[in-house]
Amino acid sequence: MSKVTTSSLQKFKQEGRKITALTAYDASFAGAFDAEGIDVLLVGDSLGMVLQGHNDTLPVTVADIAYHTRCVHRGIERALLIADMPFMSYATPEQTLQNAALLMQAGANMVKVEGGEWLLPSVTMLTERGIPVCGHLGLTPQSVHVFGGFKVQGRDEDNSQRILREAKALQAAGAQLLVLECIPASLAKLITDCLSIPVIGIGAGKDTDGQILVMHDVLGISSGYIPRFSKNYLQQSGDIRAAIRCYIDEVTRGSFPAAEHTFN
Ligand code: KIV
Repeated sequence: MSKVTTSSLQKFKQEGRKITALTAYDASFAGAFDAEGIDVLLVGDSLGMVLQGHNDTLPVTVADIAYHTRCVHRGIERALLIADMPFMSYATPEQTLQNAALLMQAGANMVKVEGGEWLLPSVTMLTERGIPVCGHLGLTPQSVHVFGGFKVQGRDEDNSQRILREAKALQAAGAQLLVLECIPASLAKLITDCLSIPVIGIGAGKDTDGQILVMHDVLGISSGYIPRFSKNYLQQSGDIRAAIRCYIDEVTRGSFPAAEHTFN
């Protein structure tokens, strides 16, 4: 069982092997997901909603993410571990560097940041100093109040062109992975085909290089509703490990996401 690295993800893209990813926040669940063969685990700021009970991700702090990153790091051997940089922890390049370093020291292998052109100097600065970066475009939940709600992005020509342009710019600035959230499947395919770095989708259709979901949605234990792009795998499986195996299998075979999980 060899450790998944940024080079492995790049190789998976080149080979057309789908990348499987989930969020995780503690050592026990992370250990189980890792043992079942998940490629990437994300300590997402979604923890503000699914663990802390907030309505959005804005109250999450660097200390919260660092704590959960340490927990997940202790539970896993193989998966690549990404730590989310929370709201306002990367508003300036200096602040970004300081907070990203804390998350790497907590055990992350990469940090994830939400946003496009304004972030490019920070992405370059992090990668030049040895911190791999995952970009995040589309429905970036930290901007929920700018969007006026959790809404699908990139539906009109101007916005889809902007997202494509920003995806290319993030890659050029040094990002080694990109998450696309809640955008039309056709746009996600176009971006995935244009980029040489791997692209992981959530609500972005089946043609990205991999998929990520929030673990609480996969296990059907989210407090509110399950988003349309997600799927409760526990419902059809006997236990948590079987549910995760089923998710990994469906992503790998390309049968998840299906049309009903996709925005057009
Ligand atoms: O915070 C999170 O869990 C995320 C994923 C939904 C991609 O950013």
